[in-house]
Amino acid sequence: MRHAAIIGWGAYVPPAVLSNNDLAAVIDTNDEWITTRSGIKERRISHVSNAAMATAAARHALAAADLEATDMDLIIVATCSPDRAVPSVAAYVQRELGGLGATMDLNAACSGFVYALSVANGMVAAGTADRALVIGAERLSSFLDLEDRTTAVLFGDGAGAVVVEASEGPEGVLSSNLHSDGSLTEILTIRGAGTEGVFASDVPTTVDMEGREVFRNAVTRMGEGAEIAINNAGFGAGDIDVLISHQANIRIIDATAKRLNVNPENVYTNIHAYGNTSAASIPIALSEAVDQGVIAPGSLVAMVAFGGGLTWGAAIVRWGDRVERLGTTDSGIPGTDLKGLELLAARVQGLGL
Ligand code: ACO
Repeated sequence: MRHAAIIGWGAYVPPAVLSNNDLAAVIDTNDEWITTRSGIKERRISHVSNAAMATAAARHALAAADLEATDMDLIIVATCSPDRAVPSVAAYVQRELGGLGATMDLNAACSGFVYALSVANGMVAAGTADRALVIGAERLSSFLDLEDRTTAVLFGDGAGAVVVEASEGPEGVLSSNLHSDGSLTEILTIRGAGTEGVFASDVPTTVDMEGREVFRNAVTRMGEGAEIAINNAGFGAGDIDVLISHQANIRIIDATAKRLNVNPENVYTNIHAYGNTSAASIPIALSEAVDQGVIAPGSLVAMVAFGGGLTWGAAIVRWGDRVERLGTTDSGIPGTDLKGLELLAARVQGLGL
């Protein structure tokens, strides 16, 4: 059966680091609380636009596949922090890299990449696309409130991308399982970043989250969704070689790994380094896991996520024979001398579109 195989992978994380101790200098928190509650030690703050990060990740993924953007029938960017309402981040990626394929953004919050991969797979299976760039890119630092210690410590910026290509072979997306519970919209929201903020200027543009409720639902729902996806792919608990979970909280990742019976050494985590990068977290982790040899030829990989909505989802992917990049490139983004806290505190807009 025709489905989408991953043939290129890449990531871009901005250079400016914001550590727990940096945050503790300006808000009432400490490294010990953040580390034990979430697993996060530091995160990155972007000095460039979401589209610039998405483009950089795409460059790396295209180089790994030895393809050009002009070879793509589709570019999807999973994001809930686009630079503009119109046009999409994906359109800016195409402006920078070329091509005339379809472009669109997809917002399923932190589940966005799993959703986008599933959409791309569906289009490939239907014959609507032969090749696609699937990107997760977020600049959530734009929505952080340094007055709110319950959310300011959790999020970071970055982008990850994969190139997928139609395959009739065993490698590729074997199944996916996507869900949402709309009755939980208000437990995780950014109110003022849409038209609601246009009509009422006093609506905050910062993350508003009931952490415990999100945590409780995430642990249950993500595990359930993953089990269904694994069963739909014809496998059972214990068959997954590598777990790439959304990086929101190390305790949620550990609980999911235990439920799916995946050995700790096969659970790739980087939450300590980047915090929660929302839709970017899975493709960044995936890219690093391939480069570090955690994903081997033929690995059965489970990608699982949850996020605002409340959305959740899982995709089961059989990796192909190749775990080496066919080519490499630079990010195309200049560095910065600004520190993470300077970028965050001053709301430095940074390099634009
Ligand atoms: N530093 C120090 N103390 C803090 C901090 C902080 N940064 N934040 C909260 N506290 C305090 C609270 O005020 C509370 O104090 P109290 O007991 O005196 O009232 C205490 O710590 C415990 O707070 P809880 O919120 O109960 O802590 P919890 O163990 O639930 O951990 C956390 C909080 C890390 C947010 C957790 O609930 C979590 O990870 N939830 C899931 C969040 C998540 O994954 N969100 C991303 C969704 S993805 C998306 O779509 C964007």
